Amino acid sequence: VAVLILWAALGYLLGSIPFGLLLTRAMNLGDLRSIGSGNIGATNVLRTGNKAAAAGTLILDGGKGAVAVLLARWLAGEDAAQLAGLAAFLGHCYPVWLKFKGGKGVATFIGLILALHWPVGLITCASWLAAAAMSRISSLGALVAALLSSLWMVLFGQIEMTALTLVLTVLIFWRHRENIDRIRKGTESKIGQKG
Ligand code: G3P
Repeated sequence: VAVLILWAALGYLLGSIPFGLLLTRAMNLGDLRSIGSGNIGATNVLRTGNKAAAAGTLILDGGKGAVAVLLARWLAGEDAAQLAGLAAFLGHCYPVWLKFKGGKGVATFIGLILALHWPVGLITCASWLAAAAMSRISSLGALVAALLSSLWMVLFGQIEMTALTLVLTVLIFWRHRENIDRIRKGTESKIGQKG
């Protein structure tokens, strides 16, 4: 149990690094909190107009989820890997450094799923890109991809990981409640739009 607690803590710490904030600050792109949705994720970094910073945020926020899983799996096995992935996701959404006001977890979710089960990760990534490209709405793409991820896990016979994707999906929907409200009202901003 001590080993699992250790990996949960390490996963959380890794996940709590707010790469979007760090990159936009380092590149002098303004205060992310007062741009667009105010979120610290790649979608909002894109609203600064800097595509490289957005891509960097996506890769680093996804990477921290993947690294948490791969490190834990390598050193402590499968249970630790799943726990570290969940902890990284929670770290991103509720980082102690930002008074627990973090991001929405989408990039970290994709990264950790890719590391846990790469075929499901790739399909989840593809469904996210497809739904986002069709709707031009990043949050909608994320919600669709999160919902579908559990279906892919079941189809690949990964029952334990299905429990994890279900929990993550509930959390992603919870973190997107303002986005869901805007989607309903038709006011959610399109990808790349400044608003
Ligand atoms: O990754 C978060 C995305 O789904 C929505 O971001 O900034 O439009 O709330 P945002």
